Amino acid sequence: MGKTLIAYFSKAGENNVNGDIINLPKGNTEIAAEYIKEFIPDADMFKIDPVEPMPESYEDCFAKAKVDQSANMRPEIKNCPESIDEYDTVYLGGPNYIETYPMAMFTFLEKFNWEGKTIKPFITHEGSSFGRAIDDITEICKGAEIKEGLSIHGADVRGFKIYIKRWIRQ
Ligand SMILES: Cc1cc2nc3c(=O)[nH]c(=O)nc-3n(C[C@H](O)[C@H](O)[C@H](O)COP(=O)(O)O)c2cc1C
Repeated sequence: MGKTLIAYFSKAGENNVNGDIINLPKGNTEIAAEYIKEFIPDADMFKIDPVEPMPESYEDCFAKAKVDQSANMRPEIKNCPESIDEYDTVYLGGPNYIETYPMAMFTFLEKFNWEGKTIKPFITHEGSSFGRAIDDITEICKGAEIKEGLSIHGADVRGFKIYIKRWIRQ
């Protein structure tokens, strides 16, 4: 059996937490990804990290996310694996950035052939759940089986540990 990859995007720094702007030492999606790793210790982890980081400030980050999305950008990412051939299951997670995943996640996805892979998508958000993210990955990851996703309220990520455990076992 092939291995499991946990590929995720997440940003520490200022974020919207229940309507307040709070400086988070660690991003919400990263916390969720680490829980998955706790339950699947053999899994590899890859953080999808743009070469040009998203701004720390919430306002600037939002403005950049908006421009990236309107231009349908594919920001370059750091240390991207050459191939994902050794993996048969990919846990794919990120924050909801204006109704879909951050554009850098699409840069990652478009590098590979997804035929025969299983994707387990998760997202952290402040109310919009997956938005269009599932439609977008379905379009890009042709041939993959996309399993039921897990939507996590970012501000409550620690309370979701038990649901993450159940979802992994589904
Ligand atoms: C640029 C930006 C855009 C966002 N857009 C949305 C949105 O449209 N809907 C939503 O529910 N949450 C939105 N959020 C909130 C994030 O999805 C949420 O805080 C998430 O947990 C952040 O994940 P991270 O800490 O792993 O980066 C946005 C946050 C940022 C920074």
